[in-house]
Amino acid sequence: MLEELGRKFARFTTNQVVRRPGLWPLFRRLTRAQFNRIAPAWDERRSDEAFAPLVAALDSLDVQPERALDLGTGTGRAAFLLARRYPDAEVVGADLAGDMIAQARRLTPPELEKRVRFEVADAEKLPYPDGSFDLVSLANMIPFFDELARVTAPGGGVVFSFSGGPETPIYVRPKVLTAELERRGFSDFAEFAAGNGTSLVAQKSSGT
Ligand SMILES: C[S@@+](CC[C@H](N)C(=O)[O-])C[C@H]1O[C@@H](n2cnc3c(N)ncnc32)[C@H](O)[C@@H]1O
Repeated sequence: MLEELGRKFARFTTNQVVRRPGLWPLFRRLTRAQFNRIAPAWDERRSDEAFAPLVAALDSLDVQPERALDLGTGTGRAAFLLARRYPDAEVVGADLAGDMIAQARRLTPPELEKRVRFEVADAEKLPYPDGSFDLVSLANMIPFFDELARVTAPGGGVVFSFSGGPETPIYVRPKVLTAELERRGFSDFAEFAAGNGTSLVAQKSSGT
C-alpha cells in the first residue's frame, strides 16, 4: 500500500517536474525522504535485468569516457556497471538521498574503490563545473535538462534508461526527452528496448 503510494508519487513528481522544473523545491524534501526510507532494501530489488536497457544503449555509443556521471545512482549499480565497462574512467555516482549514497559506498567492490566515488547532490543544481563529464547516465531518474546539458562535455553522451519501460514509476517519454535535449544542443538520438525496459541515447554537439 505504502509502496504503491510511493510509485504514484514518483510518477506524479516526474511528470510535474519535467513540465515545470521550477516546481522541484516543492517535491525535493518528500522525494528525499521517500528514497531514504527505501534505501536499505533497494539493492535487493535490483537485478541485472533492470540495467539491460542501459547496457543496450551503451553498446551503441562509440565513446571511451574519462569521466562518467551516474545521476540518481541509488545504491550505485549503474555506476559500478560504467566503471567495469570503461576501465580507464573515473566514475561519480550522485544522489539526493544520503541513505542511498551510504548503501552505494558500502556496496562498492574493493577493486572499484579508486575510480568510483559517491556524493550526495541534487541533480537540479550539481556541484560540478561546466562540461565535467563525457558520459552521463540516468537510470530510472528524473531529468533536470539544464543541469544535464551544462555538465555534459561537448561531444559527450547521455543515456536515459527505464527498467520497466513506460511502466517505470519514474518514466519520461522518448518524444519529451528528445524535444528537451534537442533544444539544448543534443542530437544523434537512438532508442532501445531490452529486458523489460527501454532506453535512449543522445550526443551533445561538439560546438556547444
Ligand atoms: C528510482 S531510484 C533509481 C536508483 C538507481 N538509478 C537504480 O536504477 O537502481 C531514483 C533515485 O534518484 C534519486 N533522485 C531523485 N531526485 C533526485 C535529484 N534531484 N538529484 C539526485 N538524485 C535524485 C533518488 O534518491 C533515488 O535514489
